[in-house]
Amino acid sequence: MVRSIRLAEEQDRSILIRDYLQHLSPHIGEAERYALLHLQVDRALLIEESGFLLGLATWGPREGIRLGVAQVTGMRIIASRRQQGLGSELFRALLSDMSAYYAERDAALRRLFLFSAEGTAPFFERMGFQQVAQLPALLGAGAGERLYLREV
Ligand SMILES: CC(C)(COP(=O)(O)OP(=O)(O)OC[C@H]1O[C@@H](n2cnc3c(N)ncnc32)[C@H](O)[C@@H]1OP(=O)(O)O)[C@@H](O)C(=O)NCCC(=O)NCCS
Repeated sequence: MVRSIRLAEEQDRSILIRDYLQHLSPHIGEAERYALLHLQVDRALLIEESGFLLGLATWGPREGIRLGVAQVTGMRIIASRRQQGLGSELFRALLSDMSAYYAERDAALRRLFLFSAEGTAPFFERMGFQQVAQLPALLGAGAGERLYLREV
């Protein structure tokens, strides 16, 4: 089994569309915009094993690049392969991609933030994040209402 992590590119548009439809909302127009966003503005990393998709992680620089602030917008491993270290492996690749992106633009990654639900808090805490706020009204109870920060 050959496992790899790579940046999503134009030929992966249908993977991103499917991801939105399956996990976010059943709205094809928004799914197409989500794919476009992650191919042209934000970035998506795909983790695969022998060509089979095991999960993905999405992120984007926020505000001016020189501020060094990035948002992790999503991380998902397929349910049958969780608790095997794949999320940690994907997160390490995400950090490398972020650092390289900033360095290529003469800037430095300084701080990450994300919104997480209660269930994934232990994972992100193990990845070095700290909860700094709880915003129950933001996305609705149980849906990413905790704001996490990580200094790099
Ligand atoms: C959050 C998520 C990406 C983590 O992925 P994962 O592959 O399960 O992550 P890991 O296996 O690296 O770590 C998860 C746990 O498994 C444990 N683990 C890691 N390797 C292990 C192994 N070889 N054997 C047994 N357990 C292991 C870790 O200790 C870790 O425990 P903790 O999170 O309670 O601290 C995954 O749970 C997920 O897709 N969740 C649903 C989507 C979601 O809510 N995403 C977050 C918001 S966008």
